[in-house]
Amino acid sequence: MISDNLWVEETLKKLNLVKDMNQSNGFTRLGFSKEENEAKKEFQSIAKDLNLMTHEDAAGNCWALWEVDKAVPIVAMGSHLDTVYNGGGYDGVVGVLSALTAVKRLKDKGFKPKKNIAIIVFSCEESARFGISTVGSKALTGLLDKNEVANITDENGISVREAVNQSGLNWGKIEKASLDAEKIEQFIEVHIEQGKKLINNKKEIGIVHRIARPTRFIINCEGLTNHTGTTEMKDRQDALTAISPLINGIEKTTNQINEKNASSLVATVSTFSVKPNAMNMIPGKVSLGIDIRSTDSSLKNELVDYIRSFVEKVKRSRNVAIKVNKIADDLPVELNEKIQENLFNSCNKVGFSNMKMNSGAGHDVMNMSHICASGLLFIPCTEGISHNPREYTSVSNILKGTKVLEQYLEDNF
Ligand code: GLV
Ligand code: MN
Ligand code: MN
Repeated sequence: MISDNLWVEETLKKLNLVKDMNQSNGFTRLGFSKEENEAKKEFQSIAKDLNLMTHEDAAGNCWALWEVDKAVPIVAMGSHLDTVYNGGGYDGVVGVLSALTAVKRLKDKGFKPKKNIAIIVFSCEESARFGISTVGSKALTGLLDKNEVANITDENGISVREAVNQSGLNWGKIEKASLDAEKIEQFIEVHIEQGKKLINNKKEIGIVHRIARPTRFIINCEGLTNHTGTTEMKDRQDALTAISPLINGIEKTTNQINEKNASSLVATVSTFSVKPNAMNMIPGKVSLGIDIRSTDSSLKNELVDYIRSFVEKVKRSRNVAIKVNKIADDLPVELNEKIQENLFNSCNKVGFSNMKMNSGAGHDVMNMSHICASGLLFIPCTEGISHNPREYTSVSNILKGTKVLEQYLEDNF
């Protein structure tokens, strides 16, 4: 029989659609793309080999079911297979892989669950393509605001609606993915930590208590494009010089807020565009995307107050127009206490060192927690690097996450 190590190694490559995990440009499988679809197909084929029943819902979320009794609810695990641009092969994949491996090991040892066990691969978790995250799990949990997201476009001008239709689904029917809360009892996600807390504390497993969710803004500043050689300094309406102090201001204000508080705030100007972007033309239009996260909403609000007052000041002092568009403002999520306690018990049983922690990144589990009791387990990743081709975690770490998940299923279902 194939060893667990080899099975995990081989399945990791299959889910990433490669023969070798060393990819200098990383992995690009954007939400609702051909590549994401291919990875989902691979998942279905692996699940079928484990004798699981597979289907895809109206949002393209892929399900693999180990059904024992139609009358009992489902206990689900899973994560996503889409990536950011040039991302790593572990963010999301590890949650799908550890769920598949736990099911394989439980089947191999003849475990008979009392509940139906499901693995879900959620569509379009990453916000890299459209600036909005967890589309599949939002649709599944009834949290997708169709009108709000339908016309948001990617960098090629393709809207969410078009991308969903192009990937073989029907945008008009996406709400059919919504799952009756009675059908599902629990959801557990395994994920790489994407930070350094586990490494710094020398722990093997993190059990997550709270998840920070983003507040996001797109700020558009409009001045006047004009000739760089002939326009006197006093006559300019330069959108770039007007808005750019905000970038450092956000970093400085965030650091100041953190100095005064026990919990922390992170904020990033993560997208930036300047038009016309030509050597001899004064920038007429600048657009900034800002991503703000904390498990303490009051800290996010303090930074938002700074951003709004900066904008008001610039509007008064400079000859530019500024539009502030809030595209997300999500409250932190608190995960189920009882599940955390049970995960600690199962983790101690299999003998891995562990700690309670918060998550700075968003995950599908935050939406699932709206319809069922939910939990999130972290395994370490090298140097805390993620959303980067250098993202890495070992097969041994993946197997540790798997073994906790497996023990948890054995102990509770
Ligand atoms: C997920 O990758 C996130 O942006 O938190
Ligand atoms: Mn990610
Ligand atoms: Mn992820």
